[in-house]
Amino acid sequence: MPDHNAIYKNEAERYHQLISKQPDLRECIDELRPFRGLDIVDLGAGSGRLTAVLAPQAKSIIALDASEAMLEVTAAGLKEAGLTNWSTIAADHRRLPLADQSADLIVSGWSICYLGDSSLADWERNIREVIGEIKRVLRPGGTVIIFETMGTGYETPHPPAFLKPYYSALTEQYGFSHKWIRTDYRFDNAAQSEQLTRFFFGDELADRVVQQKLLQVPECAGVWWLHL
Ligand SMILES: C[S@@+](CC[C@H](N)C(=O)[O-])C[C@H]1O[C@@H](n2cnc3c(N)ncnc32)[C@H](O)[C@@H]1O
Repeated sequence: MPDHNAIYKNEAERYHQLISKQPDLRECIDELRPFRGLDIVDLGAGSGRLTAVLAPQAKSIIALDASEAMLEVTAAGLKEAGLTNWSTIAADHRRLPLADQSADLIVSGWSICYLGDSSLADWERNIREVIGEIKRVLRPGGTVIIFETMGTGYETPHPPAFLKPYYSALTEQYGFSHKWIRTDYRFDNAAQSEQLTRFFFGDELADRVVQQKLLQVPECAGVWWLHL
């Protein structure tokens, strides 16, 4: 499997090219919490997939991420869109540089999982700290929505074994509701399909993409949400 930390540091633009081949999640978020006029925080915003669709209707949006390089891509997109209601801050999910009760909506896409990997000795403490920070920063009546992988290359959910304990904790320990959606990649041509899947997901999936001549690569995502 490729080194994702190295990708977030050195290949942020290429990551952004990959995820630009997926559907935008505006409607999925708006169904769970209509977001027009809200103060929003995007945890692990990366290159801005969620921030970019929320910002035009948000009152304000703060994009947080451990990687400055990823946040630079987010900032460039928001500037290009002519928006001014945003800021980016480098931060770890376990210590958010935000005031108590300062946000109405917190979203997080494919990011908290890096702290919730059950092969990490501290994964349960990590998740407790992240959920504690989310609850501290949300206003009463606020909402948190978390997206995580349920398997790339699959048409129905196949969550990675090392994330199942974290996913169970979200529903059983922290009281989140849950559903799953499809977030398939639609690539422009065969070369792009192979290159971008190999770059981020590694040889096993990319070899299957080549063998089966896949331009549409199926993916499932879990959605967890909690209203305070
Ligand atoms: C797969 S990307 C997701 C980016 C974006 N949310 C999206 O939907 O495309 C994961 C991001 O999480 C960030 N990340 C990983 N661990 C983190 C942590 N402990 N605190 C803050 N950000 C973290 C990485 O730097 C990376 O930008």
